[in-house]
Amino acid sequence: MLPELADNFRPVARPRIIENAYTEDQHRRLLDVVRRNGPWPLILAENFKTPEEVIATTSGKIPEGVTLTWDMILNPVFRGYLARQGVCFYPELEDCYYNSHFLELVRGYWGARYAEPETFLFNIQGPTPIGGPPHLDGTVFRGMTMENTPLWLLLTMAKSCLFRHWQAKKGQVIAWYYKGRIGGGFNCWPDGPRGEPLQINGPMWGRAVVVENEMMFHHGQAAGPVAMRRPAGLDISSTFGADPATADDWQISTFGKVSQTIPAREMRFLVHWGARVYRDLQELKVALDHTDDIGREQAIDMLIADMRRRGIVFETPTDPMNDRQFIGLVSQVYDIGGPTNIPADETEERAA
Ligand SMILES: [Fe+2]
Repeated sequence: MLPELADNFRPVARPRIIENAYTEDQHRRLLDVVRRNGPWPLILAENFKTPEEVIATTSGKIPEGVTLTWDMILNPVFRGYLARQGVCFYPELEDCYYNSHFLELVRGYWGARYAEPETFLFNIQGPTPIGGPPHLDGTVFRGMTMENTPLWLLLTMAKSCLFRHWQAKKGQVIAWYYKGRIGGGFNCWPDGPRGEPLQINGPMWGRAVVVENEMMFHHGQAAGPVAMRRPAGLDISSTFGADPATADDWQISTFGKVSQTIPAREMRFLVHWGARVYRDLQELKVALDHTDDIGREQAIDMLIADMRRRGIVFETPTDPMNDRQFIGLVSQVYDIGGPTNIPADETEERAA
């Protein structure tokens, strides 16, 4: 464990708070796409097939004799994608994605000349417990991305701080629409994990932050009435969609049955817009022309050399990409922890 590495995780600039991130008309179209194209899967459904896999990646331990079921660990937060790289999936949202205002915001945040939209997704939820421990969003490196590199290696590379030279520069505009009066905000640690947390509290309607979430620990606050935060019987296949009987309420469905109805005022809608940023034309060319990429072999060699320098004793793996012992070792060595000064969950209504 190398908790001192966690101190390196500070964003390029403090989060910048803006209001009215989307116009009323844009927000209406965003929500309309979400109502018409749902229902939407759980975030966890993207990456996991069994509850044990989730525990394994969060480095938790399963108590002996306990059989895990999904409703013990599922956080009812759902997700959909609105764009990928240069393509916006919904023509009616193109002005939201190819967004000159947001591009200007992230360029300004980085002091960079160029930016391109790269990700556009939403999280949608009703009342929920806290969004897990504070985390960093996954990042990529020139030459090594989700398309050619397993997640464990990308995560390890990011946490090791050895690969900043190749790390993509990114900026996000994260916007919230949440009328509820209990929690539902955002906690982040712009001064590093040992610094004071910055809380952006609900209710919020179009408030957004410009951030670098790959380099800043953050998480969502618990939201909504406590008694509603853990709907019974959730499954990894549960979905979130419009309640067809109403104009603006929502529902969680599991195996064809409604598990929970969520009134519009308890629904929390987060819109995540992300861009790739290039400081200047030179940096843009290096990325697009692949003149300074890193590959698997070099990355693994650098991790091995770093662990040896730290005095860790291990056998050099012959097939590191598939060596479970080696993968376990690097995940353990570069387990950097994170903030421990987590603000208490809100459980009562905030005054209007
Ligand atoms: Fe995140």
